[in-house]
Amino acid sequence: MTYSKITGTGSYLPEKILTNKDMEKLVDTTDEWIRERTGIRQRHIAAEDETTCDLASHAALRAIEMAGKSSSDIDLVILATTTADKIFPGTACLLQKRLGVHGCPAFDVQAVCTGFVYALGIADKFIRAGEAKCALVVGSETLSRILDWNDRSTCVLFGDGAGAVVLEASAEPGILSTHLHADGSYEHLLHVPHGISSGYEQLKAGEAYVYMEGNAVFKMAVNKLGEIVDEALEANQVSKGDLDWLVPHQANSRIIEATARKLKMSMERVILTVSEHGNTSAASVPLALDTAVRDGRIKKGETLMLEAFGSGFTWGSALLQF
Ligand code: COA
Repeated sequence: MTYSKITGTGSYLPEKILTNKDMEKLVDTTDEWIRERTGIRQRHIAAEDETTCDLASHAALRAIEMAGKSSSDIDLVILATTTADKIFPGTACLLQKRLGVHGCPAFDVQAVCTGFVYALGIADKFIRAGEAKCALVVGSETLSRILDWNDRSTCVLFGDGAGAVVLEASAEPGILSTHLHADGSYEHLLHVPHGISSGYEQLKAGEAYVYMEGNAVFKMAVNKLGEIVDEALEANQVSKGDLDWLVPHQANSRIIEATARKLKMSMERVILTVSEHGNTSAASVPLALDTAVRDGRIKKGETLMLEAFGSGFTWGSALLQF
């Protein structure tokens, strides 16, 4: 049986940092409020001339290097983003060009904060089907571009960044299963109300911003993430005690703590990076994963639960042996 296995991770955060104290100068908020309600201390913001593809390419090169591969080995590129460089072509194609990869499939996945988990699930299926042997899976965002910097209920929550993995065909277990879900009937609770085919005038005028009903999103996220971790454990007959690490979507430390409680995991076994970069949407899970791999917490052979929840609503998980 062929599995897909993560053989390299990489991430990148833009240089510019906005602390909560900096946010106090922009909107009516306090460092204390942001830390208590979300766990966020700071977020990174892309430079004016820095794009989603720029962030992605740094993260991708680091993952390729860790895997001991070169760009020419890559035979599939999937990039999850909500903040593409251009309307077209897809940012995955721009990244492919940047890396000097030619001919293999390259496409974007738009599942907002669950985008990376979706992309990982798709890449896993390509590899299991024998259609790819060495996939590059990236989550990259410049969400700062679609924030209303006058809206304190959203602008303090998000940041920019990128994370990537190299996923290779392997005879040894790697990804055990992925579980992907969506329910579009919740669109109105978390969305940017304008786009190309609808509200293009507002988009052109730079008025397309993130809109969120935070409280309703919070409740739904806790509920769905609780369900999905059970689904992944049951599908593999793995018990909660067998999990070494939870690598969650980094939106809010209170949501993460609720999922950890459900899994009866101590917070020492949970990778928490939201304080350092806020919610980086599709980049947040691979950013957290890379942080813990590089600082030596996550080791080869350990069992990880990756999970995410985002606009759509979309939600998903991946259970894997690292
Ligand atoms: N600073 C200070 N006060 C703020 C604020 C800020 N940055 N943002 C909102 N407030 C105020 C609100 O105006 C409200 O004031 P009011 O009671 O006078 O009306 C009060 O704080 C409470 O707002 P509420 O939205 O009920 O707070 P909350 O405890 O639900 O926390 C979030 C707000 C956004 C932190 C929380 O709902 C959340 O994290 N939701 C999920 C977000 C998320 O994960 N989104 C992405 C999913 S991928």
